[in-house]
Amino acid sequence: MNGRFLAFAGGAAGAWRVTRMSAVAGEPLATVERVAVTGGAQPQESAGWVLRGATSNERYLRGEERAMLAAVQPPLGRPAASEAALIPIRKSAAWWALAQDERRAVLEERSRHIATGLRYLPAIARRLHHCRDLGEAEPFDFLTWFEYAPADAPAFDALLAELRATEEWRYVEREVDVRLTRA
Ligand code: HEM
Repeated sequence: MNGRFLAFAGGAAGAWRVTRMSAVAGEPLATVERVAVTGGAQPQESAGWVLRGATSNERYLRGEERAMLAAVQPPLGRPAASEAALIPIRKSAAWWALAQDERRAVLEERSRHIATGLRYLPAIARRLHHCRDLGEAEPFDFLTWFEYAPADAPAFDALLAELRATEEWRYVEREVDVRLTRA
């Protein structure tokens, strides 16, 4: 097990306290008080739920976009970024049936996911975890994680509203929005 594998354990313990949980699409997750972010190999016996994912290579990002991101994207763990969002997402069979170039066309050429996200940097730090190749029974395809300062929470909500109105989000069949604070 290497550092690419992460587990998000919802339960009574963990550094992040849950401030709000809502099911945006599909089944909710059981309500929990805290979320612990740990290496994927550790057992989580007391947890209400455990979501596993792994960071991976990029699928859609073009060279010039990667350079633009690299110039502005902040690291995780900034002391001022005391709030976080864990948003697990599952996309539909129709999404996974598309070819790679068709998915890129939906995600960026038509939905402007990357261009829109870029406008909200450096306020928002992010990390994407993939779940699909970890096993048959993973409940989500992606675990998305964001960190920001309390003052940037409205901007983060505006970003989510923009993305959820796009063609890309028509392929999202399950999405749970879990908000957290380190405070
Ligand atoms: C903060 C600004 C954001 C930026 C700069 C950004 C950027 C990106 C980029 C570059 C990718 C593609 C990575 C690749 O090439 O494989 C990506 C994928 C993704 N992002 Fe964002 N994003 C942002 C915010 C969000 C938000 C708020 C959500 C909502 C939860 C989100 C959900 C996702 C998902 C689910 C994927 C995987 C899509 C797929 O592979 O089908 N992103 N993002």
